[in-house]
Amino acid sequence: MATNDSHKPDIDPLTGVETTGHSWDGIKELENPLPKWWSITYLITIAIAAVYLWLYPSFPIGKDSLDGSLGYTERQAVAARIEEAKAAQSVYVDQIASASLQDVAANAELVSFAARGGQAAFNTNCAGCHAVGGGGLPGGYPVLADDDWLWGGDLEAIYATIQYGVRSDHDEARYSEMPAFGADDLLTSDEINQLAAYVLSLSEGGADPTSEAGVLYADNCASCHGEQGEGATDLGAPNLRDFVWLYGGELEQVAGQIVQPKHGVMPAFVARIDDPTIRMLALYVHGLGGGQ
Ligand code: HEC
Ligand code: HEC
Repeated sequence: MATNDSHKPDIDPLTGVETTGHSWDGIKELENPLPKWWSITYLITIAIAAVYLWLYPSFPIGKDSLDGSLGYTERQAVAARIEEAKAAQSVYVDQIASASLQDVAANAELVSFAARGGQAAFNTNCAGCHAVGGGGLPGGYPVLADDDWLWGGDLEAIYATIQYGVRSDHDEARYSEMPAFGADDLLTSDEINQLAAYVLSLSEGGADPTSEAGVLYADNCASCHGEQGEGATDLGAPNLRDFVWLYGGELEQVAGQIVQPKHGVMPAFVARIDDPTIRMLALYVHGLGGGQ
């Protein structure tokens, strides 16, 4: 860049317009005034900014800010909208809280409201253990979307499980303990291996109740899991012949459970989630596909 240091104005011969005197490789900049429309628009935007500044909150001052003359804040606007939404919801929430679960389940409008509220609460509180959509996770976190229930799949049963949990610290918690047949030397490892194979034969076929293992099963296991392995929801004893496994269906996994049961734990939610939301959760879980 070269600067023209002569004092007389440098006029561009082609347009007759004065140049700024700057030259880039011989290309010069004309000293044209700003277009009128541009200057006017520019002034209008400044005027609008001034009006905005006067009406609405703007510059931060320390932890506060310059209040506008309208007294408007977005925080208040959001709070008002939340209040509005709550008032609209309370019509439904009040009915869900006061009606029986059966009555709520019979009302399509309430069910669809509860399903949405229940889903939101489920994703926050339950999905960590039961996966989004109630698909369950390996290692003892049961699927909630199938019709295989440990503790019962009707609305009341699901509601009670969510309220009090399983083997939780709540007095009303669902509770049962499978004996540690191996760890407590109730059975020999040979008997346990026979039993594990027998348990698998309950679902895969060929289970013979009169065999040695069948007799062991009847003596030690049938009181909780049922004569044919059908399970018992009052004890949370899983069905052993439906191919659905909490802790895995390999021979070693089944034998491992007989040696030392895992005893799954689910926390109680009664003190953590309000009752209408627990009801919505029960309705949501019930509606995932396996509700009875
Ligand atoms: C910390 C992990 C954990 C969280 C969080 C959790 N659960 Fe569970 N849940 C379990 C386990 C483990 C079991 C199985 C207990 C057993 O072995 O009997 C279970 C069982 C259940 C059952 C009984 C299933 C059946 O087959 O009878 C229901 C219903 C249930 N959970 C719903 C919920 C809902 C709804 C939430 C959220 C409010 C929730 N759970 C949060 C771990 C959890
Ligand atoms: C007092 C009741 C009770 C008795 C007796 C009992 N169980 Fe269980 N069993 C349970 C419960 C409850 C569970 C699930 C609890 C847990 O460990 O999370 C379970 C779980 C199991 C599982 C895991 C199932 C799965 O889906 O992964 C197997 C396998 C099993 N039992 C086999 C047996 C066998 C074999 C016997 C007899 C030697 C037996 N049980 C005796 C209550 C019992």
